[in-house]
Amino acid sequence: MSAKIIDGKQIAAIVRKEVSQGVKERLADGLRPPGLAVIMVGEDPASEVYVRNKRRACEEVGFKSIAQDLPDTVTQSELVELITELNKNPEIDGILVQLPLPKQLDAGEIINTISPDKDVDGLHPYNMGRLAVRDPLLRPCTPVGIMRLLESAGIDPKGKEAVVVGASNMVGRPVGLELLIAGATVTTCHRFTENLDQHVNRADILVVAVGKPGFIPGSWIKPGATVIDVGINRLENGKLCGDIEFETAKENAGWITPVPGGVGPMTVACLLQNTLYAANHLHKS
Ligand code: GUN
Repeated sequence: MSAKIIDGKQIAAIVRKEVSQGVKERLADGLRPPGLAVIMVGEDPASEVYVRNKRRACEEVGFKSIAQDLPDTVTQSELVELITELNKNPEIDGILVQLPLPKQLDAGEIINTISPDKDVDGLHPYNMGRLAVRDPLLRPCTPVGIMRLLESAGIDPKGKEAVVVGASNMVGRPVGLELLIAGATVTTCHRFTENLDQHVNRADILVVAVGKPGFIPGSWIKPGATVIDVGINRLENGKLCGDIEFETAKENAGWITPVPGGVGPMTVACLLQNTLYAANHLHKS
């Protein structure tokens, strides 16, 4: 068997078009365009690529985009002050601080400073809590993107065994909550999990987000499973690869996301969706 590919690039283009249409409707109603501030600290090459993609995507759908590039010498209080100003700015609906931050900064406090109604990354404890109690407001972008990919492939998680490998705040934990809301039986695996192969082999839906190239051997995948690879790893030869051994996994899986062109484009598209939602529903002016 060879798995069908879930084309994230194509589905992300559909989401971006929906957002673009939403912006046109706002403008036709005499409302301002949604505004997103993307803050980048330091010069991490991978983060620079992601941030560039996010800013370009904003402009393409007609958002107002504010770019804040800060040196890695910026202090905690300077960054807190900048976010506090953006919280008050009536033209800004979303504030995103690209992670990871340099070590001297306390990322938890920075995220807590973002007003929950402008937290379009969905990482503030308020938004995480809303997701945990099945009443989501702004939902973390990568997990929302994954749920949309499943929907596009016609996969209903209800009653399925879902296994998430990786328990990060950004992906593993919130995608587990999304799958739980959708009715799956969810197992979250992490660095202390024993017999990882046995957990993976039970999964009807497998989501892997660990950031290690080829971490999951394709031979572990249950025949017919839906496999979502969140990893984006750059190899020494410059090529990108995921956390799952794609070539062997595709022989077992029913559906699989490629890297690149799978989850990555969905994260950016869902960020735009969240920002439009914040403008339409959370901010009056
Ligand atoms: N770093 C890698 N992915 C993300 C993301 O989705 N949001 C933020 N803020 N930082 C990231």
